[in-house]
Amino acid sequence: MNVPLLDLRLQYLSIKEEIDKALSEVLEDCGFILGERVKELEARISAYCGVKHGIAVASGTDALFLSLKACGVGPGDEVITSTYSFFSSAGTIWNAGGRPVFVDIDPDTFNLDVSQVKGRISDKTKAVMPVHLFGQCAEMVPLLELASEAGLPIIEDAAQAIGATSDGRKAGSLGLLGCFSFYPSKNLGAYGDAGMIVTNDSSVADKLRLLRVHGAKPKYFHRVVGVNSRLDALQAAVLLVKLKYLDSWSARRRNNAGLYDRLLQDTEVVTPKVRKGNVSIYNQYVVRVRARDAVKEFLAKKGIGTDIYYPLPLHLQECFRALGYRKGELPRSEKAAQESLALPIYPELTPEQQEYVVSSIREALDLVSP
Ligand SMILES: Cc1ncc(COP(=O)(O)O)c(C=O)c1O
Repeated sequence: MNVPLLDLRLQYLSIKEEIDKALSEVLEDCGFILGERVKELEARISAYCGVKHGIAVASGTDALFLSLKACGVGPGDEVITSTYSFFSSAGTIWNAGGRPVFVDIDPDTFNLDVSQVKGRISDKTKAVMPVHLFGQCAEMVPLLELASEAGLPIIEDAAQAIGATSDGRKAGSLGLLGCFSFYPSKNLGAYGDAGMIVTNDSSVADKLRLLRVHGAKPKYFHRVVGVNSRLDALQAAVLLVKLKYLDSWSARRRNNAGLYDRLLQDTEVVTPKVRKGNVSIYNQYVVRVRARDAVKEFLAKKGIGTDIYYPLPLHLQECFRALGYRKGELPRSEKAAQESLALPIYPELTPEQQEYVVSSIREALDLVSP
């Protein structure tokens, strides 16, 4: 049996007619950059998140970068974030001229350990960037309290978490700014790169709209130096079709997660925990397993796709050597990097495929020595 980590073709086939029609309408219009479809997508996503503004940009990375710029992050400024994330969280802080200050994770959720944030706030701290990893919100209530006491904006890296909730509130709507990625593998995935920032703050929204078009308003009159980060209409058309299905796809992922939880119950595999008050959209289903690399290799031989998110925490990346972090300094993340393994969780996965994945994991664990 073949079980890929993700099968985007199955999803495409299930909505092919709608997608093909939406794409051909854009081709007929020839309005390719920003425009009405992008505006409609901004309105739909901001309404979905329960916030006033949506600013569509070219990627999730740009959403983070422009949010940092809009918060005034520049040389010498520090931004506190999780060391256990996709590179963009820290790379954008660095590219804005700032310095990422890393905190370790809560080992149960892989999200930043909020209790470590307070101790890392300094007079240089300009913002806090929690990451809602794998589709589950970071612990936002105490973090929002802390940030408000310290007068710091929160930029949510909600790239993996559109539709996830924290005490009933949508990911991206909790901080000053929420950043989404529509990279194809996300629960709401475009057919290329795409991203969005959502916010309730009208003046920050205006700044972001300016920054994404080279800082120009009107055209060719540049108030600030911005970047080119315009979303194109083809991606907006795809996303408008898919948004209707997002919640049902995420519910199927949750259902699949429930089945894995049950099937793996009597094994030594540590299944992912969802914090009380959170609803996860399971962009990834990440387990912890002994002899992870050997298990991964065994599963690959059985035709099962898995991946490691992430094999090296950000504080140990070569490009951040100048920040001076040492091995062992953020041990929970370093341990997670050794143990974590993402299993296939996409909505179209069948129970038979999941049973095959779990029986293959059992076989693998029988083979690798304790
Ligand atoms: C946690 C996290 N942050 C940021 C990004 C960046 O998004 P993009 O790939 O759209 O630039 C991603 C996407 O992969 C992500 O998973």
